Amino acid sequence: PRTAAVIPAAGRGVRLGPGAPKALRALNGTPMLVHAVRAMAASNAVVLVVVVAPPEDTPGVRNLLADLVLPDRTEVVVVPGGETRQESVRLGLAAVPDDVPVVLVHDAARPLVPVDTVDSVIEAVRDGAPAVVPALPLADTVKEVVPGGKGEPEPVVATPERARLRAVQTPQGFDRATLVRAHDTVPADGEGATDCAGLVERLGEPVVVVPGHEEAFKVTRPLDLVLAEAVLARRRA
Ligand code: C5P
Repeated sequence: PRTAAVIPAAGRGVRLGPGAPKALRALNGTPMLVHAVRAMAASNAVVLVVVVAPPEDTPGVRNLLADLVLPDRTEVVVVPGGETRQESVRLGLAAVPDDVPVVLVHDAARPLVPVDTVDSVIEAVRDGAPAVVPALPLADTVKEVVPGGKGEPEPVVATPERARLRAVQTPQGFDRATLVRAHDTVPADGEGATDCAGLVERLGEPVVVVPGHEEAFKVTRPLDLVLAEAVLARRRA
């Protein structure tokens, strides 16, 4: 099915340390966002990539992507983002035409997701799931705590059974109409949703998980940059 990919890339990337907005930081000399756009365009189904840029950097991001060589089937548009990821996705979604039935939402911060993962998400939507999330089992045990101040001991509330937990990645895939309805219905309270599938869950619609991929990890902290560059070097070897 004809598929659009919305890439929210308007975050500042505070946890990565000082510097340019996260999506514009380089991995082996190429901005993360460029890797992420290529990763989406690698799927034969993707006809449109909507990049949601930091508002003040929108012209720069347009320039950056103007020279990018992509398959002929794939168009790229750049729109300015919002205060939260949820708002940025909503703004990106508004640029997807009604006749595109499937929408992916993919973090610019997951630049190395393999095309097989992208395709398996699209396939699961095609097979009838309104929302599809790639995810992996956890290595760490997870505890729910009462969040405290920096460095203060935090009381533990619960330890969910690890085997039942999944760490979710992107691209998440949606039936377009369902995702639009979710964004129109669920208000962006506080920091907004960090995960579009969560909005669809709140509509009461089914969300399914398909296997994610180790290389779809999110570049969040400085160590993740080291790992991402090592993965790229291995691919080129
Ligand atoms: O902060 P976090 O890592 O959860 O951000 C996930 C993605 O959402 C990143 O690609 C980031 O650029 C994007 N984002 C956005 N607009 C915001 C905040 C985050 O597009 N206001």
